[in-house]
Amino acid sequence: MSDQSLSSVLEIVWQHLSRGTADRHHPARHPTLATISPDGPDLRTLVLRCVDRETSTLEFHTDSASPKTAHIAENPAIAIHVWIPKARLQIRARGTARLVAGDAKLFDRLPEQAQANYTGPIPGTPLPTDTPNTPPRFARLLCVLSEIDALILSDPHQRGLFTSAKDWQGAWIAP
Ligand SMILES: Cc1cc2nc3c(=O)[nH]c(=O)nc-3n(C[C@H](O)[C@H](O)[C@H](O)COP(=O)(O)O)c2cc1C
Repeated sequence: MSDQSLSSVLEIVWQHLSRGTADRHHPARHPTLATISPDGPDLRTLVLRCVDRETSTLEFHTDSASPKTAHIAENPAIAIHVWIPKARLQIRARGTARLVAGDAKLFDRLPEQAQANYTGPIPGTPLPTDTPNTPPRFARLLCVLSEIDALILSDPHQRGLFTSAKDWQGAWIAP
């Protein structure tokens, strides 16, 4: 397997992630994000909003009072998983996340129903609740990747591991 095809695997991964931000039907639209909670690993689906290959960053929107943000404040380590059936490609990535305030212009452009997610009851709290509406808790979650593991179910299976520590050069590993 040539270095050319190894670098093309990384290229394909970023192309799929990028498509996820633009095409609501693409599987990369809905990655699974893993955090480390005090009770162990925790997983949930999020909408992928932006990707920036230059900085290896994936951006999500979330509620700044949601449990995942507390996990990240305690331990910023995250992992991300996407399975793209048509490409027979599994993307696994690791990195660190940080929360930044969502800007007001972005919030104003959200549909009313989406805005309500950031002012109503805090995710994971019991219902019904008497909690009055709080100021918008809209936040951006920036995940900076340090490792990408791409498994392609071709014949034979191929798996490339890419790390920022090695300048994303990558290596073939056993599938
Ligand atoms: C298809 C789908 C898309 C979702 N998109 C988001 C999202 O973009 N941001 C978000 O915070 N939660 C999103 N959720 C809800 C999360 O999966 C999760 O239930 C919620 O954020 C609370 O997670 P936590 O308790 O781990 O903080 C989505 C759920 C589904 C099923």
